[in-house]
Amino acid sequence: MSNRTFTMIKPDATSKGHTGAILDQIIKAGFSVKAMKWIHLTTAQAGEFYAVHKERPFYGELVEFMCSGPIVAAILEKENAVADFRTLIGATNFKDAAEGTIRKKYATSIGENAVHGSDSDENAKIEGDFFFSGLERF
Ligand code: CMP
Repeated sequence: MSNRTFTMIKPDATSKGHTGAILDQIIKAGFSVKAMKWIHLTTAQAGEFYAVHKERPFYGELVEFMCSGPIVAAILEKENAVADFRTLIGATNFKDAAEGTIRKKYATSIGENAVHGSDSDENAKIEGDFFFSGLERF
């Protein structure tokens, strides 16, 4: 089990001014920030990040959305990070997310769901490596 996960605060949440509140909730839940950047993805970068979903019907919409404004990308550390972070953010579809979770509070659709959280230790490493060099993490 790894103690790190990867997250993005997505363009819907950054554009509505929820970045600070979301980071506050993450830190109060016991995660520490090991790397962080504010970045506006290109279509090619978003397409590559989500390439695993290339065959899904929502892929084009997802890539377009992820390039629609800046995001915050971060590597987070905590014991049992991947599972605990997914509990904190709630289900992909905010309608199914538990009360108090980040998606329940800030998401507006299944696509525009405020935050991303890695689904496994392996993907947490791949996704963190996509955004951050060794010099950019602590
Ligand atoms: P995320 O956790 O970042 O992982 C893949 C993303 O695809 C997901 O959050 C949603 O933003 C998006 N997604 C998943 N399912 C759908 C869907 N049915 N329609 C549109 N977007 C989706």
